[in-house]
Formats: sequence, structure tokens, C-alpha cells
Amino acid sequence: MANQNRDKLLALFSKHVDQFVSGEEIAQQLGISRAAIWKHMENLRKEGFQIEAVRNKGYRLEKFGTLFSKDSLLLGLETEFIGRTLYFYEEVTSTQLIAHEKVNNGAPEGTAIVADFQNAGKGRLKRDWLSSRGEGIFTSVILKPDIPIMEVPQLTFIASLAVSETVQKLTGLAARIKWPNDIYIGKRKICGVLTEMQAEAETIHAVIIGIGINVNQAAFPEDLKQKATSLRIEAGQVFSRTEIIQEIFKRLEKYYKLYLEQGFAPIKLLWEEQAIPFSKRIRVSTLKGVITGKAEGISDTGVLFVRDDEGVQHAIYSADIEFEN
Ligand code: BTN
Repeated sequence: MANQNRDKLLALFSKHVDQFVSGEEIAQQLGISRAAIWKHMENLRKEGFQIEAVRNKGYRLEKFGTLFSKDSLLLGLETEFIGRTLYFYEEVTSTQLIAHEKVNNGAPEGTAIVADFQNAGKGRLKRDWLSSRGEGIFTSVILKPDIPIMEVPQLTFIASLAVSETVQKLTGLAARIKWPNDIYIGKRKICGVLTEMQAEAETIHAVIIGIGINVNQAAFPEDLKQKATSLRIEAGQVFSRTEIIQEIFKRLEKYYKLYLEQGFAPIKLLWEEQAIPFSKRIRVSTLKGVITGKAEGISDTGVLFVRDDEGVQHAIYSADIEFEN
């Protein structure tokens, strides 16, 4: 019963995030005494929620604090379906692996997996993704679009667009996208996106978009120092992972809907506004090898065209790129 009232209280607060709710309203809605309300507030504070109490005004749940939990993520989440079914873990192998399992068990579109720590985080091109405890964002979102398999990589553009805009809005930092889906601040990476798919013949069962963001790391190991940075290192302050995830889910949903309604063209335009322009010469590393040549831009479907020094044009779907002058 006590736990039910706790959840009801959080649900009530979620409709009034950052606003005062009077003791009278809480007492009425939950059917409990003022003394019981006070006790509940104490317990929520112990859990880490920041609650202000003001005589004649009532109680106000401060927006986020540094709390990171399923409750904090759902509280004030402004989406219709992304993150509405939410699985939160203190530790997982990889949120991608959990998402694949959830798909096999019939998870609905929009299901999100969030973890505080991954002990086997996966990067693109078969690399690891460093996932230190309590500092980063590790999330995977399940989508079920009715699109041709060839177009699945376009969803990655939606994710990088959502992340780049979110970082700019919430931190003021100049985040930019590096094709296809890395987010950089200056010359160092703060975010990577890994898109995987479950499909049979030409039918997509689900697309799993994995997003990893370096948020509150104070430093990186020697081998990553030159390549990786965090929002904290760049801005000199700690950020709420909850708030960042909520904003990303909101934008991901907005752009996913736009994509389903109008196709890739409007996404491409928005993405290009956020992207680091291609310099004339680039070096492209794929699992198959390295190509150097001239970047000829992105096609209307998101594929990068590169003409090598022998004049052969290559269509690149996924790779690491470096700009040469
Ligand atoms: C990259 O190599 O740039 C992509 C990194 C993607 C990392 C994220 S963290 C959440 C999700 N779970 C994983 O194991 N990987 C992705």
C-alpha cells in the first residue's frame, strides 16, 4: 500500500513537474492524511528526489537533480511512445543485447533500455564502447518502421540529429555531427550511435538504435584522451543524464514521425545543418579497408560517395572518416 501511494505521488508530481502541489490536493487524490504525506516526502528525499516544502503552497518536486532511475526518467517525459515502455538497469552487458531480447519477447515500438553501466558495451565496426559506471548515457531504443531494409541507415541520421540538437540546447556546447553518426565537440568525440536490425528476407522486425554519450566523465584513459571527451570536460560542470535522455527521446520521436510522414529529405536538410562539412579530401576506414579520395557528398538516401585517386566512385554506408586538407 505504502509503495502504491509512493507511485501515485510520483504520478501526481509528474503532472506538475517543478510546480507546487498543495497538501490538500495530495491528501484528496491519495486519500491519506497530512502526516502520511509528510512521511512519504521524507522517504522520497531519502531516495534522492529533491522536494521543497513551503507553508501554504505545498510541495514541489524539483525537476531532475542528479537522480537517475526509471522513475526520474518517466517523470516529465514528454513523448507519446518513445521511452513509455522503459527498462532501467544498474548494470547490463550491453543495452543492445537486452533490446534484442526484448524484441524477441514482443516489446512494442518505442521501448527503451537504459543502463547506468555496461560491462560489454558495443561500438561500430566491432569495437568496444567504454561504458563507465554512473557517468555516461547508454540507451537503446526499439523502432518498428515499415520501410525497405536499404533505408534503415537513415534512422541513424535521425538519432544523431536528435543528440546533436539536445546537446546544444542543454549544454550550450557546439556539438557537430561527423558523418555518419558521431557527435564531436571540437576534435573529440562525445557520442556514438550504433544501429542494428532484426529482419527476415525483406521484412524488418525491429531496428535498435543504440546511443552512447560521454556525459559526466572527469577524464579518459590515456589511449582515448586524444579522441574522446565528455560534456563535463567541455563545459566544466556535471549534467543531468535524465534531462538529456528525455530531450533526446522527445526529438527522436519528433523526427521519426517526420521521417515516416515525409521521408528522408527533410531529415537530410536538418542533419546537414548540424554536420561538419566534408573537406575536399577524406580518408575512409571500413571493415574492408581504407580509401582515400574526394568526398562527393551524401546521396538522397544518406550514402556517402567518395571518388578514389584512380577515379573510381565508392558508395560508403558505414565507416570512420578523417578529413585531409
Ligand atoms: C560507435 O562506435 O560510435 C557507436 C557506439 C554506440 C554505443 C552505444 S551505448 C548504448 C548502446 N549499447 C551498446 O552496447 N552500444 C550502444
